[in-house]
Amino acid sequence: MWVSPAMTVLVVGGAGYIGSVTVRALVRAGRDVVVFDDLSTGFREAVPAGVGFVHGSTHDAGAIERAVSSHRVDVVVHFAAKKAAGESMVQPGRYFAENVAGSNTLFEALVRSGVHRVVFSSSAAVYGNATLLPISEETPKHPENPYGESKLIVEQMLRWYDTCHALRSVSLRYFNAAGATDDGEVGEDFAQSTNLVPVLMKSVLGRRGPLEIFGTDYPTRDGTAIRDYVHVEDLAAGHVKAVEYLERGGASTAVNLGTSRGSSVWEILHAAESVIGAPVPHVTAPRRPGDAVELYADISRARALLRWEPVRDIRAIMESEWKWRQRRPDGFAVPHQ
Ligand SMILES: NC(=O)c1ccc[n+]([C@@H]2O[C@H](COP(=O)([O-])OP(=O)(O)OC[C@H]3O[C@@H](n4cnc5c(N)ncnc54)[C@H](O)[C@@H]3O)[C@@H](O)[C@H]2O)c1
Repeated sequence: MWVSPAMTVLVVGGAGYIGSVTVRALVRAGRDVVVFDDLSTGFREAVPAGVGFVHGSTHDAGAIERAVSSHRVDVVVHFAAKKAAGESMVQPGRYFAENVAGSNTLFEALVRSGVHRVVFSSSAAVYGNATLLPISEETPKHPENPYGESKLIVEQMLRWYDTCHALRSVSLRYFNAAGATDDGEVGEDFAQSTNLVPVLMKSVLGRRGPLEIFGTDYPTRDGTAIRDYVHVEDLAAGHVKAVEYLERGGASTAVNLGTSRGSSVWEILHAAESVIGAPVPHVTAPRRPGDAVELYADISRARALLRWEPVRDIRAIMESEWKWRQRRPDGFAVPHQ
């Protein structure tokens, strides 16, 4: 009997936060995985033992082509990007160079190498501050910063790579990624994030002042802003499902990954206090200009096309996050004792 030779998933940006959790999920799903990463914000230590690693950049077409041919890659999961929305308002050119030009070089190299399947890390930032809720994939796209714009441009590029080169793709629009692996082994590095959950943990661990709660007079159930927090393990499972969808012959698409439930800042803070068993130091502050009142996802397309369902709530996010912070209060930046 002829047996198809094992093919490999190349995880570009697999040494970063969501990438390294996804690598573990792919390995658990029985995949051969190789990580390709320039370690600009990722950590070699975040890549599990036994998973191949190539130190390289999306700007280096030759390195990508060599990685694809030497590891028999047939699908790529592409996380590599700069992700700080605020920074992108100061350095837009850097975001277009890294996120757009880097992705273009990667896709061209994949086409030349005969790879026809890509899962791309997009973001709910493509929608901007949508007012019609829940946010579906058809909601108008109005990015509020160059970061969100860079993700939208790459999605549009992928549409043309499909038309012109039959490169099929799933763009996964994550809502607010949060938490760590269930065992607390891998999570987000403090230095890399301005998101609520890591900033809250920094305040708890005394690595910054009290958490500022921007706006307590929003027209929401408790006056604070509402976002859709999705556990990083559920996100990782979504990537495994997206790879399977492409292997079933699924057409190129963009899919929201959220929970369809919004949580307020107070609810996040109270979930953290209940897990940690201590108060979270905080102060209230006026609303920040440009912040939306409430954002959460419609995830019916993810359910229907990817057969994906998030199974963890904000308590599970806090439990995993707290395990990770206790294990490595300084993330991967400081060697583990
Ligand atoms: N974290 C979130 O809340 C969130 C939300 C929406 C979308 N995203 C997107 O998900 C992806 C992963 O985010 P993350 O939070 O894991 O970020 P991260 O910074 O932890 O991971 C990015 C990884 O890509 C690598 N990388 C960056 N530029 C590269 C390049 N040119 N060549 C090769 N490797 C490169 C980094 O070293 C790092 O390991 C990003 O594309 C981000 O925009 C993240």
